[in-house]
This record gives sequence, structure tokens and C-alpha cells, in this order.
Amino acid sequence: MPDTATPPVQPDLRAIQALAAPDMAAVDALIRRRLASDVVLINQVAEYIIGAGGKRLRPMLLLLAAGALGGRGGIGPDAHQLAAVVEFIHTATLLHDDVVDESDLRRGRRTANAVWGNAASVLVGDFLYSRSFQLMVELDRLEVMRILADTTNTIAEGEVLQLLHVRNPDTDEAAYLRVIERKTAILFAAATRLGALLAGADAAACEAMHRYGLALGYAFQIADDVLDYASDAETMGKNLGDDLAEGKATLPLIHAMRHSDAATRGELRRIVEHGEVDALPTVQAAIAACGSLAYSRQRASEYAHAADEALSALPANEYTAALRGLARYAIHRDH
Ligand code: IPE
Ligand code: IPE
Ligand code: MG
Ligand code: MG
Repeated sequence: MPDTATPPVQPDLRAIQALAAPDMAAVDALIRRRLASDVVLINQVAEYIIGAGGKRLRPMLLLLAAGALGGRGGIGPDAHQLAAVVEFIHTATLLHDDVVDESDLRRGRRTANAVWGNAASVLVGDFLYSRSFQLMVELDRLEVMRILADTTNTIAEGEVLQLLHVRNPDTDEAAYLRVIERKTAILFAAATRLGALLAGADAAACEAMHRYGLALGYAFQIADDVLDYASDAETMGKNLGDDLAEGKATLPLIHAMRHSDAATRGELRRIVEHGEVDALPTVQAAIAACGSLAYSRQRASEYAHAADEALSALPANEYTAALRGLARYAIHRDH
């Protein structure tokens, strides 16, 4: 089935953001305050990437999950602090990821590695990681530390697992899913689980929030991998074709390799083995011919549906409604 160009429906992210806006302002202030170091280069690099914005999705998820299970009163200073922690962890992974992926555009700006070089990016990434640990320890809750220690360790495993698949044309959908669970979905799950935990929710509700975040994270990463073939740099704030340039076989390309005719498959395999960015139009044509974007969007939407399902056992309120909205947003977003 060829891909058709249906315009995506963008759920109203602004309405969702409005619900969390006062708390997100507090989180942002906390992030700025706790970035500080008397080492000038740390301030420069950290301020550069944090100041470029980003969607701040993970801290917002934590706050909304806390609100869903504890109401307005569920979102206290500890939730603000952990929301800052998850954004620090996320930002640290982006600094490292752009070095590994050799990316030069992020959040509409040159990447930190493009401006200051790989060494500065890796080291400031380490600073943000360790600063996040300092912030989490201040809560003095072993369960919180356990979740975040496990999560950061799993993300690192995901990135290394992905490295093992680079330029491997035999990477299949199951292997791809194992990577994205670890590198992306697990942090979403930690954010929503921590929100529930801070709101004083019981084990079943914390587990349901974890399931929601995990499924949302899968949907979000698959959508990101579709955008890497289907969007443009100006809209995304990242370069098109980064995954291919790096020899990373993501779901659209995995699907196309499986469903192309023998000659095209041979060519796609060769392209993956060499990580040829010049081959982007060839790969896009194969992907279009196989309906691989439509297939990937369908898979993303199945995960978004699973995220929605996970909420069904939880109270229906404005916060769970916002979380449902984010599940739709994750797959229809344009950046
Ligand atoms: C980028 O995450 C990394 C992925 C998991 C795809 P985001 O798309 O949430 O990045 P920012 O924070 O909005 O820039
Ligand atoms: C996300 O993968 C990486 C992490 C979450 C660490 P990508 O490599 O697809 O992210 P982008 O596209 O560079 O943001
Ligand atoms: Mg990347
Ligand atoms: Mg990407």
C-alpha cells in the first residue's frame, strides 16, 4: 500500500500545556536555578541547550500523572523537583546522543557538539546527569532513587544496544523495539510512575501509570523515526535523514527492507551498511513504494491506543484527559 499524504490532525497541545503551565513555570525556574556552576563553560553549554526550549514533555508528564492521582494538591515541590530531574536526564542524553549520532542541528540551533566540540558535550552531559542525581537525593526517598538509577542505567543500555545495530541491515522490528523501549520509553515510564508515586497512589495505580508512559514512549519514538524521513529540518529543528546517515535502521526502513523486491532490498541493505546520507531520496522512494510510513504510523497509533487503555483503570479527571491528549499528540505532532 503506497503512502498517502494525509495532513496530520494536531491535538491542541496548548490546552494541555495550559493545565500544567503554572507548575511548568516553577519547574523551569528550578531548572535555571539548579543549572548553575562556577565553571563558565558548563553554564554556557547547559544554558544553550536548555534555553533552546524543547517541548518539556517528560516533566509535564510527571506533573500531569501526579495531578491525575492526587489532584491539584498532588503536584507539590517534590514533583517540581523530580520534573526538573527528568528534564536534566533527558538533556544529558541529548548532549551525548548528538555526539554519537554526529548530529549538527537540535531544537532549531546548531548542536552543542557542533559549536563546542564532542568533548565539551560529553562532559557537560555528565555534569547534567550528576546534577540530576544531586537533585533526586535531596528528596531522600529510596524508591525514587531506585527508579531513577534503574532508568538511567537502562537508557545507557539502550544506547549501547543501538550502537551494536548500527550499519546492520539484519536489524528487525523486534530488535528495533528492544532498543526504543530502553533508550526512550523507559524515561517516559519513569516520569509517569514517579508522578503517581509522589501523589501517594497505590501500587496498582503506579503500575498503570508506568504502562501508560511506556506505551507513550514507544509511540513517541516511532513517530520521531517517521519524522526523520517525512518532515523537514525547519519544522523539526533537527536534520532530515540523520538516522540513515548514521546507518541506523529504524522502523520505516526495516519495513521497506522486508517488503521491497529483491533488487531494491539489496540496494537498501547496501545503503544501511554504508550509512549513506546521499541515498536519502532512494530510501524515501522505497519507503513510499512499500507504504512503510503508513505502517509505522499505524504501529505508533497502536502504542498510543495502549497508552490510552492503561489509563482506563484510573480516575477520569482533567489530568487523565490531558494525558489522553498527549497520547494523540505523540503520534500527530510535527516536531
Ligand atoms: C528527542 O526527544 C529524543 C527522542 C526521544 C526522540 P524530544 O522530541 O522530546 O526532544 P525535545 O526535548 O522536545 O527537544
Ligand atoms: C533518541 O533517539 C535518543 C535518546 C533518547 C537518548 P534519536 O537519536 O532518534 O533522537 P533524536 O532524533 O536525535 O532527537
Ligand atoms: Mg539522535
Ligand atoms: Mg530521531
